[in-house]
Amino acid sequence: MTILVTGGAGFIGSNFVLDWLAAHDEPVVNLDALTYAGNLANLASLEGDARHHFVQADIGDRERVAALLAEFRPRAVLNFAAESHVDRSIHGAGEFIQTNIVGTFQLLEAVRAHWAALPAAEQADFRFLHVSTDEVYGSLSVDQEPFTEQYPYEPNSPYSASKAASDHLVRAWHHTYGLPVLTTNCSNNYGPFHFPEKLIPLMIVNALAGKALPIYGDGLQIRDWLYVKDHCSAIRRVLSAGRVGETYNVGGWNEKPNVEIVHTICDLLDQLRPREAGGSYREQITHVTDRPGHDRRYAIDARKIERELGWKPAETFETGIRKTVQWYLDHPEWVAQVQSGAYRDWLATHYA
Ligand code: NAD
Ligand code: DAU
Repeated sequence: MTILVTGGAGFIGSNFVLDWLAAHDEPVVNLDALTYAGNLANLASLEGDARHHFVQADIGDRERVAALLAEFRPRAVLNFAAESHVDRSIHGAGEFIQTNIVGTFQLLEAVRAHWAALPAAEQADFRFLHVSTDEVYGSLSVDQEPFTEQYPYEPNSPYSASKAASDHLVRAWHHTYGLPVLTTNCSNNYGPFHFPEKLIPLMIVNALAGKALPIYGDGLQIRDWLYVKDHCSAIRRVLSAGRVGETYNVGGWNEKPNVEIVHTICDLLDQLRPREAGGSYREQITHVTDRPGHDRRYAIDARKIERELGWKPAETFETGIRKTVQWYLDHPEWVAQVQSGAYRDWLATHYA
């Protein structure tokens, strides 16, 4: 059997592919358009591994996806592909609408046609797993309970609105056509291969480069952090045991204000790589203009996935953030390639 992963050269997708192939012999077809966020260097350790088949393609290319489904006959499609950065969506929402909404629609249509033509037994076992975000629920005040799966959708940014739309399409393809879908809504991930436009990796690489650490507004916005490997294990669990048509919220009960995250990173770097000039990395912190429409707080109630599927995260925030900071210290070449843009040459030099 085979699974097809979309967006498997991105942050979470590449961690998922690496973890999957470390745990299973089942091959992975990895379909990724290689936008700025796709980095094949993340998958360098799989070079020459016949279980990993990379295809540069767009989820919105229905014919191409249909041909791949016919060729590889995967038992499941896992959709990680998306435009994922809130700030970019504020500066230009077009690609978010195109990939997250239109792309998901085209992918669903290709998968539906493939699934409908399968023999009954294969049809029953087939799954379409859609990877989504807690941001679809909008913003919580400090006195509200964390998001359950029943919480109404109230997306506030162009990114979260586009993800909410994609979740609704997935839901509709199940209710209308019977496509066997599963949806996961996860909180903020962090860990290896995180593109340094997002808070945690940006703070680590800026600190090491002696640059400013820009905190938006008062920095008291709260995010609920989950180590990426725990998100990957949750997705594997939902794929194998999730109830068709259900959504599962994924989180690690780790609510932290942004300033606390940045202080923790600075303190870890002070220990692990003290500044040559002396003093603390905290001296590099600067408060900048707030993100427009900035959601104040996200928090995930993860009791459903724990109760129904027995999933729990393996890392605490303390263990996960230490591993993450250490990973960036151990991989200066990965950071340098991303910053110089050289990672974009990987396809030509390694897959020519
Ligand atoms: P990412 O931006 O790091 O990676 C996205 C990947 O998708 C890239 O490899 C990119 O090349 C690919 N891609 C983009 N458009 C494509 C298209 N049209 N066709 C094919 N491939 C395309 O994102 P990420 O942080 O790894 O997020 C993966 C998924 O998880 C997204 O759906 C995101 O919404 C969701 N999610 C992310 C987080 C988080 O904290 N990062 C949390 C919850 C959910
Ligand atoms: O909640 C899940 C979501 O988490 C995912 O769906 C998104 O794909 C992912 O990007 C992430 O969205 P956020 O907007 O929460 O992540 P980001 O790392 O961009 O920002 C985290 C918080 O830090 C947020 O409150 C904004 C703030 N921030 C971010 C950056 C990049 C800063 O204060 N300074 C910064 O430079």
